[in-house]
Amino acid sequence: MKIRFLGQSCFLIHFGGKKLLFDPAISANPIANNELINTLNPDFVLLSHAHGDHSADAEKILKNSSAKLISNYEIVDYYGKLGIEGHPMNIGGKWEFEFGTVKVVNAVHSSVFPDGSYGSNPVGFVIYNQEACFYFAGDTALTMDMKLIPLTCPKLDVAILPIGDNFTMGIDDALIASDFVECQKIIGCHFDSFGFIKIDHEQSKNLFKSKDKELILLEIDEVLEM
Ligand code: NI
Ligand code: MN
Repeated sequence: MKIRFLGQSCFLIHFGGKKLLFDPAISANPIANNELINTLNPDFVLLSHAHGDHSADAEKILKNSSAKLISNYEIVDYYGKLGIEGHPMNIGGKWEFEFGTVKVVNAVHSSVFPDGSYGSNPVGFVIYNQEACFYFAGDTALTMDMKLIPLTCPKLDVAILPIGDNFTMGIDDALIASDFVECQKIIGCHFDSFGFIKIDHEQSKNLFKSKDKELILLEIDEVLEM
């Protein structure tokens, strides 16, 4: 499993022999590298919700690659009207893809496209195969529903959680979330991209360390191999 961070909540993850691109919004992120947009060539694009800081480059990337979209029903329908192929899902459902199983889980947030179109309920994804299992939380508050993940999915190897506060969980709630989903290794996302979500890196990592957990904060375009 190879996890490449592209800023905010955008990750390119090599999993089960496929390249999965999550929440591509590089052009909407002032601290990301715009030149990377055309180099990613994903096999699948997974969208957690419709907000611009997650969806900004999805149309362009989906049109310029053979990638298939995986998202909630209404978001897949929105892109379907633009001629883009996708696999519609909804909260609580799972499906076996070539790379592994995707289970769609609850996220507590909002979801509307920048043009005002309905983006339905925001979601998170738990993705697993024989080798590994990870959770991509999307934008979410801390929610009791996270306790369902260990009851319904294989043991998590890593969880990607938002930590920037203001629009999503902050670092203290993310620490509780890591308990709820029973995962020791957390990759932070949704931080530093703009003013409301700037975090203190050392303080955040030390908070996790004090509870015998690991918080990984990747630099933009940094790759983590697991
Ligand atoms: Ni959002
Ligand atoms: Mn967001």
